[in-house]
This record gives sequence, C-alpha cells and structure tokens, in this order.
Amino acid sequence: MSNTGLSMYVCLFFACCFCCSRAMPTRVNQEAVNDRPVIGVLTQLVSDEVMKPFGRTYIPASYVKYVESGGSRVMPIRLTLTTAEYENIFRKINGLLFIGGAADLETSDYARVAKIFYTLALKANDRGDFFPIWGTCMGMQLLTVLVAGENLLTKTTAENISLPLNLTTEADSSRMFAGLSEELMKALAQEPLTGNFHHYGLTLQTFQENEKLQNFFTVLSTNVAENEALFISTLEAKEYPFYGVQWHPEVNRFQWDRKLNFPHSSHAVQLSSRLAEFFVEEGRRSLHHFDSPEEDASSLIYNYTPVYAGNFSGYEQVYFF
Ligand SMILES: *[C@@H]1O[C@H](CO)[C@@H](O)[C@H](O)[C@H]1NC(C)=O
Ligand SMILES: *[C@@H]1O[C@H](CO)[C@@H](O)[C@H](O)[C@H]1NC(C)=O
Ligand SMILES: *[C@@H]1O[C@H](CO)[C@@H](O)[C@H](O)[C@H]1NC(C)=O
Repeated sequence: MSNTGLSMYVCLFFACCFCCSRAMPTRVNQEAVNDRPVIGVLTQLVSDEVMKPFGRTYIPASYVKYVESGGSRVMPIRLTLTTAEYENIFRKINGLLFIGGAADLETSDYARVAKIFYTLALKANDRGDFFPIWGTCMGMQLLTVLVAGENLLTKTTAENISLPLNLTTEADSSRMFAGLSEELMKALAQEPLTGNFHHYGLTLQTFQENEKLQNFFTVLSTNVAENEALFISTLEAKEYPFYGVQWHPEVNRFQWDRKLNFPHSSHAVQLSSRLAEFFVEEGRRSLHHFDSPEEDASSLIYNYTPVYAGNFSGYEQVYFF
C-alpha cells in the first residue's frame, strides 16, 4: 500500500471515532423464535476522494460478514429515505448494527436516521416487541449521544492498538458475555483481543456524572487511552437489548491489513464469533418480517457486490451504494 493509501485509510477508519443483572423486559414473548433474522446496517457517507467514484455511501464488508457469520442476513439502509419509509423498514428487520464511520453524531443524516430507529426501538421494546441494537466504535458513541440527549464524548485516543479489557464486576453477570467460556473470559481480561481505532470516547467519570447514562447502561469494561483517560470500552443497557463496544470485534476475523494491529489469535477469533452469535440470537427474538419473499429478496445485501478495496483503503472489501 502506498503512503497516500495509508494516510487515506487512517482518515477512513480512524476518523470513525473522531467524528468517531440479566433482567430484561418481562413482557417479551420468550417462546417465539425467528430463524430467518435480518439485521439492518445504516450506510455511511463516503468522504474519501478515492472512494467517491464507487458510490455516495458505503458499508465495509467486514461488518456484513460479521453479522452473516452469526446466522443472520443483512439489509443495507440508505440515509436518504423519509421517516415513513424508515418506520416501514423497522417493521421488517430484527435488529440494527450501528457501525463505525465518520459522521457528526448530532446533525448528520446518519444521526437523524439513527435517532428515528432508536426511538422506534425504545417504544417497541417497551411494548414487548423485542428489538436489539448493537453499536460498534462510532456506533457505540452514537448510542451514548442518543441516550444522554447530548454529545459527551471527549478525547480518548486509542489508535491501532489491541487491548485486554479491564472488566467490571458486572461483566460476569452480563448478557453480552454470558455465552463466553471461563477460559475466554480470562483471555479477554489478559490478552489483547480487542482492536481499538478511535480518537474520542466516553470517560468513566463522564458516565458516572450523567444520570441518564447511569440509569440506562451498565459498564462492562474500561480501558486507558493514550492521554491516560479511563474510557468505557463495553456497555450494555439495563432494560433494553442495546449493546455497545468501543472496539472492533469484526476486524478479528474479517480484516487483515498487515499495517494495522488487528487481533487474529485463536481467542480473538472465538471472541468475535461468540459476540456475532450472541447479537444474532437477540435478533431471533424479534418477529418483524417482510411482507413477501420478493420484498425480502430485493431488500437484502445480496443485491450488491462488494468491491476490492485493499489497494486504496484498510478494508479488503467494501459495499458501495
Ligand atoms: C479498571 O476499571 C476500574 C473501574 O471499573 C477502575 O477503577 C480501574 O482504575 C481500572 N484499572 C485499570 C488498570 O485500568
Ligand atoms: C499499527 O501497529 C502495528 C503493530 O503495533 C505497527 O506495526 C504498525 O506500523 C502500526 N500502523 C500504523 C498505521 O500506525
Ligand atoms: C486498485 O486495483 C484495481 C485493480 O485491481 C485498479 O483498477 C484500481 O485503479 C486500483 N486503485 C487504486 C486507488 O490504486
């Protein structure tokens, strides 16, 4: 990869974060299972010049493979639809993944669309219509902005570094980590299994000073940034199936750029697999569905072909829209 390519990648990927008790709702129908889940993924606006010829928005293929590896299908969701169209999509999909990227978390189209889905998901879960949301990197930051109603992120750079998690005592009784073996939990706390590529984050102190965040989320882990700030690296909501990771589980299995610090050890791969399976299992509890097989077929990611991007970005493959 050329130097130009690398610096561009740094914008593309690192900018992500620059701009980038097991009690659950009791009214949920526990018996119903949906074995054909579809997880929605919001597209990201292309900002890098070298990517512009391919499309206006994109989704790195690593996130798609991650969701598919858990046993789900993926629906890409554009940022240009009307509120009514998003409400219609919400009735068909079984969960949402907020991915990393580069967007203003309060004023962008991405933030506008995310807020529509977040509000729909809150209301749905409140009435027993189970609907999970997972935020990765900027996606987790976005969840904190949506819950707090303001952007409380500060500089917490951890860039191109793999870290073990400093797990809280709540991690042991969390839903997110419930399926991890004792060995894997130990590895998670001791080995660098989590890839970090962010400049901003939520400090533990900010979290503890904000009542809305504290009431909503349980902190499952923290890590120390380059500037020594203690930032929250893993979160799950107390009463909703909402989850956030400041790190990137998808890179462990689906990104291989030699110039970047991606964890590929056996434990790192297992962690990524278990978390993808966990999130899709949450999606199986949602009974939303498309109106017809035709509508389902035309809405899914299979209608698009990822582009080889390994020579101009840090992603091997990218879907453009
Ligand atoms: C680990 O996290 C706890 C808060 O859960 C914090 O008090 C402690 O300082 C952290 N330790 C390290 C080494 O980051
Ligand atoms: C990322 O980290 C790896 C390993 O620590 C290092 O070899 C590489 O040069 C770094 N890449 C960048 C772009 O800083
Ligand atoms: C990347 O490689 C493809 C061929 O595989 C080529 O067409 C394209 O111009 C290359 N892009 C860059 C930015 O080097």
